[in-house]
Amino acid sequence: MPKTIVIVGAQFGDEGKGKIVDFLTEKADLIARYNGGNNAGHTVVVKNDVFKFHLIPSGIIHEGKLNVMGNGMVIDPKVVVSEIESLEKRGYDISEKNLIISQNAHIIKEKHVEEDELTGSKIGTTGRGIGPCYTDKAARKGLRMIDYIKEDNKYAKKIRPLVKDTSLIVSQYLEDEKNILFEGAQGTLLDIDHGTYPYVTSSNVVAGGACTGLGIGPTKIDAVIAVAKAYITRVGSGPLVTELGTEEETNKEDSINKLKRELGDQGLSFLKRKIINKVNEDDEYSQGRLLRLNGMEYGTTTGRPRRTGWFDALIARYSARINGLDAVAMTKLDVLSDFKKIKICTAYECKGKKSSEFTNNVEILKDCRPVYETLDGWCKDISKAKDFKELPENAQEYIRRIEELVKVPICIVSVGPGREQTIVLKKQFLF
Ligand code: GDP
Ligand code: IMO
Ligand code: MG
Repeated sequence: MPKTIVIVGAQFGDEGKGKIVDFLTEKADLIARYNGGNNAGHTVVVKNDVFKFHLIPSGIIHEGKLNVMGNGMVIDPKVVVSEIESLEKRGYDISEKNLIISQNAHIIKEKHVEEDELTGSKIGTTGRGIGPCYTDKAARKGLRMIDYIKEDNKYAKKIRPLVKDTSLIVSQYLEDEKNILFEGAQGTLLDIDHGTYPYVTSSNVVAGGACTGLGIGPTKIDAVIAVAKAYITRVGSGPLVTELGTEEETNKEDSINKLKRELGDQGLSFLKRKIINKVNEDDEYSQGRLLRLNGMEYGTTTGRPRRTGWFDALIARYSARINGLDAVAMTKLDVLSDFKKIKICTAYECKGKKSSEFTNNVEILKDCRPVYETLDGWCKDISKAKDFKELPENAQEYIRRIEELVKVPICIVSVGPGREQTIVLKKQFLF
């Protein structure tokens, strides 16, 4: 059984890392985030309560755990303070007992946000100042937490007691053999080195980022688990070989809030039923739209409709290689329940040549077309399944086939946003 586990996104972010971290936190002592800033949006659903975290690790809502914001993160002081205050309003006590922030983390300034808003639209950044802040960090002219908290302003005052040498504290937990979760933000294909550059974020998202982003050695990581959706989504620009419909079509769609306002719940289910008919006549845009509506694929951070597509086994295998995966936690299987036929991409065809290896070269990717294998759907509600055996045979078959293609065991299957909608398949990869 591992004592330390990295949780990393296998695809383009929003895989459900927040949910899986929350699920595993029950048995963890420390939860440490290692990269990114408030470009991330991690949703945790506990009964009727919904929490959306941008900076604070998803473990914060459990009592008696220490949450760490690592040196690899970039932190907008206003955002972290507002996140702390909103937790306090909901009755959570936040202090250095449950939240500490690295003194070496870099500060996102107003000017970073302004610059990102001006220049980030080319690749569809979240506009939160992430890239410009990491740019200043690399150019050795950034502002670090250790210096920021010397300033005399209300944000610095609020954060000051939480700022620590977090690497030292994490190392003490390691020495004491406590259970530790390392929480990644974004997804492997958004990694600055290994993603689809330049359509990437500005940090090391991959499991290796946990070492540099927290100040721990690679030998201290016992297991790496990637969270992968049962299909794929992407927010912002960049290649998405299995995309259903086009980026333009998705971007033209209304936000979910507008749809809900205008159609109401009844109108929305009528719309879904209409789409389901087209889906099963093999209309690709409708298939993508149904994934979006069933999966509520609208950004936590920006509210943008997410681009959607079929599961891409090449990307998952690439992610397994780059992260050294031990296992995969597959989320959102329930979202596929309305499909009579489900496709998995098993190869790319590029200028007449077939390839089964992913490349992050965007010049090549733009000419790649997916080669699919089609499986029968299950057309049954699976959101209450508690056990692998309770899943319909075709859903079991889908999971087994993905395991075979990715060559990594699936340790968890998630069938809904709630904690209880989590099926553990292989305990040996978990605490
Ligand atoms: P993260 O950025 O990787 O933490 O993912 P997000 O929170 O941005 O997006 C995942 C969304 O899917 C959230 O709204 C979750 O509540 C939701 N979610 C997570 N797992 C499941 C699942 O198995 N089924 C369904 N239907 N929703 C899920
Ligand atoms: P979580 O942690 C999905 C995407 C943006 C854009 C690109 C660069 O919730 O999975 P940035 O603002 O980082 O400079 O934008 O990366 N992006 C994400 N997409 N989930 C995220 O985080 C993301 N964080 C950044 O949409 O395409
Ligand atoms: Mg997210």
